[in-house]
Amino acid sequence: MPTPTPARQPRPKRAGAPQSLLDAIRERYERDAPHAHFPTDHTTIVFGEGAPDARLMFIGEAPGADEDRLGRPFVGRAGQLLDKMITAMGLKREEVYIANVLKTRPPNNDTPTPEQARRCAPYLFAQIAAVQPEAIVTLGLPATRLLLETDAAMARLRGTWASFTIPEPDPLDLLPPDLLGQTFAVMPTYHPAYLLRSYTQENRQKVWSDLRLVMDRLGIA
Ligand code: URA
Repeated sequence: MPTPTPARQPRPKRAGAPQSLLDAIRERYERDAPHAHFPTDHTTIVFGEGAPDARLMFIGEAPGADEDRLGRPFVGRAGQLLDKMITAMGLKREEVYIANVLKTRPPNNDTPTPEQARRCAPYLFAQIAAVQPEAIVTLGLPATRLLLETDAAMARLRGTWASFTIPEPDPLDLLPPDLLGQTFAVMPTYHPAYLLRSYTQENRQKVWSDLRLVMDRLGIA
């Protein structure tokens, strides 16, 4: 079950530049290499990118071939659709932060298993804590299920605000204590790759209505 809707008031953004913290998380990820515990087909680590103090964060599944080649998230066909979604919201790609559950390309573009997601989760959670987004859009089930700890179907989860709390204690022992235990608003929606496969008017309307809820929350509708 999704957790209750968090309070609607936008949280004041934390002062200070979190880029140094993001750099530390990336270094820690590279050192720990959690992907060494499962099969990958990667040549590079796709950590994530965007404004370190973004108001909005998108979380996808895992890098594909294009992302692996360029070392950047969402730069293939699904990424082009995500770019269109961001533009339609009146935002620029460089204003948001984009990350994935897995930071290495899975073989055959397999869906991350819950065990793989769990191994990489602390680094994603630390990215969320560093960026402090006012809203998170989870793209597809792996990201949604990881954050909301649910097995429910996307059809049930999308379109409703849920919340995610940074776990305590910090398994990486990396985050400043004031960043632990914070709760973030989460809007689950369909993954752009799913939308490309099922490019129906109905699915497009559903995703747009989810994004409108996000725009409403950010005060940019
Ligand atoms: N799909 C994802 O989930 N992430 C990417 O970075 C690219 C495609």
